[in-house]
Amino acid sequence: NSKGVIFDLDGVIVDTARYHYLAWRKLANDLGFDITETQNEELKGVSRVASLEKILGWGNVSLSQDEFMEQMAIKNDNYLSYISTMTAKDILPGVSKVLDFLTENEIPFALGSASKNARGILEKINLYHRFSAIVDGNNVSKAKPNPEVFLIAAKELEMAPSNCIVFEDSVAGVQAANAANMVSIGIGEKSVLNEADHVFSDFTKIEIEFIKNLVTR
Ligand code: G6P
Ligand code: MG
Repeated sequence: NSKGVIFDLDGVIVDTARYHYLAWRKLANDLGFDITETQNEELKGVSRVASLEKILGWGNVSLSQDEFMEQMAIKNDNYLSYISTMTAKDILPGVSKVLDFLTENEIPFALGSASKNARGILEKINLYHRFSAIVDGNNVSKAKPNPEVFLIAAKELEMAPSNCIVFEDSVAGVQAANAANMVSIGIGEKSVLNEADHVFSDFTKIEIEFIKNLVTR
């Protein structure tokens, strides 16, 4: 088979996007301002450092290098405490059905995430061993919308980028997939993810027939 599939993690396989938002919001609140859901869309898919830089810009707050590092650590500790009880039950509805279809049909799939917590989360939800390749925030130097993360994943899958299909919940991630010349499938709101080739509100709306057509085309 000549197709490969690449999944983003946060907001695609698990609902961690919500916890990233809660942790960033707490950080902003503690610094004396708030962030909106609309602003949060700009944080999805964006690395920890770049996210904090954006947030501080919104709040017009400047921190010393040490304070910046400290806030990053606090945010991550809060985030990890929010997801500490996560198990395989937290895999989003409809995701397992798609992974099972891919496995049964020997279509390799990879993870392409900006998160440095990705491997730990995959272990928690018992999916670590299912992925042919895992590319995460520890393996990339250029954040989405740069296509680097997906291009490395394609290379590890030994697939041409144009034969890869990407599932993403973020604007930056959809742009990264498009820049990599891959098929982009947005998971979320069509009005937000309007640059994606296809958009579904969640995995329960995706028919296996649709996946079959994509991977056999
Ligand atoms: C993903 C999420 C972002 C998160 C980033 C870094 O891209 O969508 O919300 O900030 O990963 O995650 P990390 O777990 O390394 O802080
Ligand atoms: Mg995401």
